[in-house]
Amino acid sequence: MSTGAQTTTLVKTQTTTVVKIGGSTLGSQDTSLQDVVTLHRAGARPVVVHGGGAMITDWLGKMQVESVFVDGLRSTSREALDVVVGVLRGVVNAQLVAELGAVGGRAVGLSGVDGGCVRAERYDERLGYVGRVTGVDGDFVASLLDAGVIPVIAPIGLEAPAQPLNINADTVAGEVARALGADSLVFLTDVDGLLDAEKQLVSEVDAERARALRADGVLTGGMIPKIDACFRAAEVGVRAFIANGTQPGTLRQIATGEAAGTRILG
Ligand SMILES: Nc1ncnc2c1ncn2[C@@H]1O[C@H](COP(=O)(O)OP(=O)(O)OP(=O)(O)O)[C@@H](O)[C@H]1O
Ligand SMILES: [Mg+2]
Repeated sequence: MSTGAQTTTLVKTQTTTVVKIGGSTLGSQDTSLQDVVTLHRAGARPVVVHGGGAMITDWLGKMQVESVFVDGLRSTSREALDVVVGVLRGVVNAQLVAELGAVGGRAVGLSGVDGGCVRAERYDERLGYVGRVTGVDGDFVASLLDAGVIPVIAPIGLEAPAQPLNINADTVAGEVARALGADSLVFLTDVDGLLDAEKQLVSEVDAERARALRADGVLTGGMIPKIDACFRAAEVGVRAFIANGTQPGTLRQIATGEAAGTRILG
């Protein structure tokens, strides 16, 4: 599929879309990065936020840094933080920027530390250097879009005055979408979307249904911060979706208004 052909069928658009690329989808033979570049070429303003959970686990192992879990959440020690920052801002971010370049995009990699654009604070000392977002400088991110580049954001926040913190990438994506007043927020992950107890795709979900699925233990783990971020963003009018980033054309389908994955009814 040529990028040029894709561009011609996309309506010219200036919409701002935050695309969260799951670490779970990295390296799979999908078209997400081509789709991001196609959107950008069509006049849209895409912002990429990425995760990297699996790669962090690999590197913590390689570096022989022990993982300590507190209530199912990984605590980030000083040593682990160095690995998290190195892997996310270094390995994963640089690879995504390079791959976007290879398919014709002009991308700039940064983390929430850059320009202090994602402010954060520690919220549970048992979790160590894990942050929650206290604010996002949407104007700073918008200035990169104005400069014609695709920002690619690693989920590391800055606790004043000078402490980087590990933050869940889904949360960062949702808060960036809110701060930008984005038109849409798309979570690309390794499943078709939110699945019910029978593993069937839930094509539309409202807050009540999400609460019920969670209470029933069907909505767990990595899906929880995604759903929370979707509803946070939907509060300010962002259209939010969770879809399969390992399938070709998913982002493009959503951008052109075709049904794909789970749509959040905010
Ligand atoms: N109800 C559910 N429907 C679909 N997936 C679910 C559900 N409950 C839990 N999950 C899990 O959520 C996972 C997706 O979240 P996960 O954090 O693993 O990936 P990601 O966010 O795309 O990647 P990363 O965390 O590296 O950025 C799915 O692979 C699935 O195992
Ligand atoms: Mg995740």
